[in-house]
Amino acid sequence: MAVNLRGRSFLKLLDFTPEEIRYLLETSKQFKRLKLLGTPHKYLEGKNIVLLFEKTSTRTRCSFEVAGYDLGMGVTYLDPGSSQMGKKESIEDTAKVLGRMYDGIEYRGYAQSIVEELADNAGIPVWNGLTTDFHPTQMLADILTVEENFTDGIKGKKLVFFGDAQNNVGNSLMVVCAKLGLHFVACGPKEQMPESKLVKQCEAIAKENGATITLTDDIKKAATGAHVIYTDIWVSMGEPADLWAKRIKLLEPYRVTKEVMKMADKEAIFLHCLPSFHDTKTTIGEDIAKQFGVKEMEVADEVFKGKQSRVFDQAENRMHTIKAVMYSTLC
Ligand code: CP
Ligand code: NVA
Repeated sequence: MAVNLRGRSFLKLLDFTPEEIRYLLETSKQFKRLKLLGTPHKYLEGKNIVLLFEKTSTRTRCSFEVAGYDLGMGVTYLDPGSSQMGKKESIEDTAKVLGRMYDGIEYRGYAQSIVEELADNAGIPVWNGLTTDFHPTQMLADILTVEENFTDGIKGKKLVFFGDAQNNVGNSLMVVCAKLGLHFVACGPKEQMPESKLVKQCEAIAKENGATITLTDDIKKAATGAHVIYTDIWVSMGEPADLWAKRIKLLEPYRVTKEVMKMADKEAIFLHCLPSFHDTKTTIGEDIAKQFGVKEMEVADEVFKGKQSRVFDQAENRMHTIKAVMYSTLC
């Protein structure tokens, strides 16, 4: 059956079939080609979108803005301090007002229920630019990057996430791997594993698509034969800073090092959604080094900068994939 995503919101990948996800990936590739050729593609001229950010961002905000302009749309950015939402106006009322003015809404913030409530009330597509639970636009960029590196196909490849596997990126990777038939492994301490309800749901989806879900604290077992090694920061946005001490202690053994990369397949790539604490050139990185003597956190600097790293291709792919999501739901 032909895929048609017009009018749909993009809130989490659990809502999409493998065919729909594939369609978004193929559309992303077409947009990437147009961009690289310098071919104008203002297919959505006359439309307007609004970007609501309750948390900070570089990649997601810039991707939505550039993709919006490339498609010929007007773009409004609202930062945490400059809208009434939540403080003086309910989510429901905000959604109803924005739905009268715009053609699409991006939301980055806290509970998944907020982005769901926006979508229930706006009457226009709403796109999840990261919540505490999920980061679905990130997944399209990640899988596109995997696909660009494994031309024999992604089905059956092994993707291993090291560290804080219960966060939005860990959860979302488990979902996308299950949907597209990649074997997903979360490697970390028991305390930081995804919720069992989501694991069970993903196990059932993975089974339908010939894939497996594994949760383990065994680094060698996890890394051996891996095609993609992935990690993310140990304390996510919105979590209290006093968690750092506990997380460093829990997650330091799961840092992605040169030794971990050696255990993986010889063609393996390293991915990270970014931003990353791979050195002390950030205020938080500098502070952690002073407080705990830790100079690189979730990934060793030499892996981050090494020849298997594809993190900047991955970051670029955010823009092409977000463009595909907006185009497919608004066209
Ligand atoms: N990966 C990602 O979402 O980056 P930003 O927080 O910079 O948007
Ligand atoms: N888990 C991270 C992802 C950032 C893109 C966070 O939520 O801060």
